[in-house]
Amino acid sequence: MNKQLLEKIKQLKDMRNAVILAHNYQPGEIQDLADFCGDSLGLSIKAAETDAEVIVFCGVQFMAETAAILSPQKTVLLPDKFAGCPLADMITAEQLRQLKQEHPDALVVCYVNSSAEVKAESDYCCTSANAFEVVNSLPMDKQIIFVPDQHLGRFVIEKTGRELVLWPGYCTSHVVITEEDIKNTKAKYPDAVVMAHAECTEPVKELADEILSTSQMLRYTKASSAKRFIVSTEVGMICPLEKQNPKAEFIAASEKAICPNMKKITLEKVLWSLEDMQHEIVVPKEIAAKAKRALERMVEILPVR
Ligand code: 13P
Repeated sequence: MNKQLLEKIKQLKDMRNAVILAHNYQPGEIQDLADFCGDSLGLSIKAAETDAEVIVFCGVQFMAETAAILSPQKTVLLPDKFAGCPLADMITAEQLRQLKQEHPDALVVCYVNSSAEVKAESDYCCTSANAFEVVNSLPMDKQIIFVPDQHLGRFVIEKTGRELVLWPGYCTSHVVITEEDIKNTKAKYPDAVVMAHAECTEPVKELADEILSTSQMLRYTKASSAKRFIVSTEVGMICPLEKQNPKAEFIAASEKAICPNMKKITLEKVLWSLEDMQHEIVVPKEIAAKAKRALERMVEILPVR
């Protein structure tokens, strides 16, 4: 069944001159199918670079929106239109405008996990891979508003030593990982290296050996001589880590850390998406033009690791 499905997807992909991009949290079969897998930053860069006319974005809404803004001449399809991001929905453009009024001289850095409208109200955008570098590139005398993820924001405060005005947003899939989860898993596997995503809570990050974005986890484990890793992020990440490092062992810090939105993408939906050219993600022109400025700055500032 899958073989037939995969064959049909391939034929349609060629016919449509399409490329399939998949986030590292996607189900394994989607990652296997994709032309390129990566983190939010890598996928944004790929989307902007590709010569394909159609991008099938296997990820969530804000990622497809980002691709549509960076590549307005391409058709961007999200195979499930309900694949949203609760974190992105935790701040509206109106709430950000209010915050800007309270801090009229501040620059605004928004995490890529945000709506196009919020990006349009922001000066800079960043991902978890380059949040530190983006904030560090800003003038020292400028106050900075950082939205919407408070946990990534606190990590940036710690790394840069700068005061940021934070918003109380959080990723619902990362905050379920608890300090006890890390302690218990570490007690079972004392030799394991603990890698945590910056969206984890502070007590969890304090117990981690490394705080990394998803692609940084891939780079780090490739270069490491360690044989066992505790992975404190969305469980889908285990799949590309195992694929890349077949001799190492990867243990999820919590099996509860699942992003239900990422898992909405299936092979069938990818096929239907190419058959019917659905669901096209279109960002209104004025919003896209403003958001593009912040996004272009994001893809220009590359992480040091
Ligand atoms: P990365 O940028 O590390 O891939 O993270 C994306 C994300 O949405 C985490 O929840």
